[in-house]
Amino acid sequence: MPPLRIDILTTFPEMFGPAAAGPLAQSIPDRARRAGLVQWHAHNIRDHAANKHDKTDDRPFGGGPGMVMLCQPLWDAVRAVEGQDSRFATRVLLTPQGRPLSQAVVESLAVKPRLLLIAGHYEGVDERVIEALEPMEISVGDYVLSGGELAAMVLMDAVIRLLPGALGHEASAAMDSFSPIGPGCARVLDHPHYTRPREWMGRSVPEVLISGDHGEVERWRLAQRLARTRARRPDLLR
Ligand code: ADE
Repeated sequence: MPPLRIDILTTFPEMFGPAAAGPLAQSIPDRARRAGLVQWHAHNIRDHAANKHDKTDDRPFGGGPGMVMLCQPLWDAVRAVEGQDSRFATRVLLTPQGRPLSQAVVESLAVKPRLLLIAGHYEGVDERVIEALEPMEISVGDYVLSGGELAAMVLMDAVIRLLPGALGHEASAAMDSFSPIGPGCARVLDHPHYTRPREWMGRSVPEVLISGDHGEVERWRLAQRLARTRARRPDLLR
């Protein structure tokens, strides 16, 4: 399989660093990149501005604070970057107005050949270029970041770890929090985990985990997942 290609359009490409040194150059994303499962490229929207001062934003019509991202530089950046590869790119705009990012959305993106992530600014992007580009609009939570860059990195990390071969131990993504407990079943939280020593500061590891009875361990873990979800995130069970 060719690597998943991710292009990021931003006015702060330095936030992504060179692929070999940015915040995603650690741990699982770095291993996946070096194994050829994914490649990413950050592009500066400013390089596509067709105005004297390379402006990418301007004051809002109707007044008010903040700046609005211009249509032209973003439109031309998308067209130019998409033209670098013949594969269809799924366009994603990171914005607090988007649909909440969930594990189900992450799973749907992890099977695409190519993603084009647009990091907007919280003041906003001119609505006409959003209408013309028709991106998926995705939010990473009900809070406002300074821009979509960190949201794009959150999405990238969550997608990359699902690429076949990224985790090294394939079963483990299926056991994560927010994975369904069976086909068509609810997505629930993870169970608690323990490692050595058996006793620590007067606290013991639950007996069942050292029983050697795998069936009992699985039943206990499932019960823990359901109990935790009921207590902490009942919304997931509705
Ligand atoms: N940009 C600013 N805040 C954001 C959020 N919560 N999610 C996605 N993009 C954003």
